[in-house]
Amino acid sequence: MSDYKQSSINNDTKSMLKATILDYDTVTLDDKSHAMVIIDQTQLPNKIEILSLTKQTEIWDAIYLLKVRGAPAIGVAAAIGIYLAAREITATDYDTFYEKFRKASDYLNSSRPTAVNLSWALKRMEQVVIANRDQPVKDIVAALHDEALAIREEDIKVCHAIGTYGLSLVNPGDGLLTHCNAGQLATIRYGTATAPMYLGHEQGYNFKIYCDETRPLLQGARLTSFELSSAGMDVTVLCDNMSASLMRTGAINAVFVGCDRVAANGDTANKIGTSMAALAAKRYGIPFYVCAPTSTIDMSIETGAGIVIEQRKPEEVTSMWYEKPMAPKGVKVYNTAFDVTDADLITGIITEYGIAYPPYDKAFKEIFMKKQIHDTVIEILG
Ligand code: MRU
Repeated sequence: MSDYKQSSINNDTKSMLKATILDYDTVTLDDKSHAMVIIDQTQLPNKIEILSLTKQTEIWDAIYLLKVRGAPAIGVAAAIGIYLAAREITATDYDTFYEKFRKASDYLNSSRPTAVNLSWALKRMEQVVIANRDQPVKDIVAALHDEALAIREEDIKVCHAIGTYGLSLVNPGDGLLTHCNAGQLATIRYGTATAPMYLGHEQGYNFKIYCDETRPLLQGARLTSFELSSAGMDVTVLCDNMSASLMRTGAINAVFVGCDRVAANGDTANKIGTSMAALAAKRYGIPFYVCAPTSTIDMSIETGAGIVIEQRKPEEVTSMWYEKPMAPKGVKVYNTAFDVTDADLITGIITEYGIAYPPYDKAFKEIFMKKQIHDTVIEILG
């Protein structure tokens, strides 16, 4: 270990953060006002702003603008969003209702392309419509309400299970690096990449957590360091281009990241900069784990080459965080929001049904088999 110095958050800030973050949900449904309620993540960490969204355009914007973000949270937002759209449909015959439902679903699905949880949740909601086609429309809408809440509740259990598997891979006192925000703010509770951190923290593991700041939208600096330090963890923020040098010092024992879509061969799309961290981890012999709910594994895509990668506005790179633009006006900007980490750089992919190790196509088949057995048992037990 080197004598690397940390700048830590002071205690007053810690207690303030704890009081604020724990009081609010990432995304939830308010049945009284028929609204999707979110904490606006674009305002964090400086301002806690709770938004109550009722219109489909507001929900679409919230996803596109990253007010609600992170693959699992986007899935939950889509499920709640499409339920709210369905209850606005006035048609009482199934065919017209279904047609309008599909239109609203396609609209929400167009808000962001990479996180598969968006289309996964919308497809799951559509299955509810189809399965209840013989019921009156009002009963279909009631079933959609329950399914949206079930998707939300399941996310908590899934993240907890990922946390338990992840925690089995590390030791008390370890230095853990993470990239972007795959935390509570990206899910409903625990996060995916942060779940082992939360569970270890509860058990006194005293991890040293390092958060890549995550250019250009700073999810690591603004969100991950915010939520983990508010939970009382030892957190250090670093610029993305510092992680290789930190790994070289021996300060990092494992890297945990989330993902937006995993292809059948294990290639993984996650926030831009993830693959750089994976390459450096490989060089320094540090295990690199991807935390992936099965809802994020897309077996219909063979390799990472088939994953659509979101491109975003140049201003996010050139001027968004600055008083004055930091690049000449009109310069070409490469602002790709995600990258693909090759499967051979990934030590293991942690799901709620266990840890997949290479070769991933075979491991995923076993994971999905376990899921199917689990789902069948639940169905039988009612
Ligand atoms: O653009 P974002 O902030 O939605 O990107 C989020 C990520 O890349 C996360 O790592 C991923 O969605 C997993 S969240 C559990």
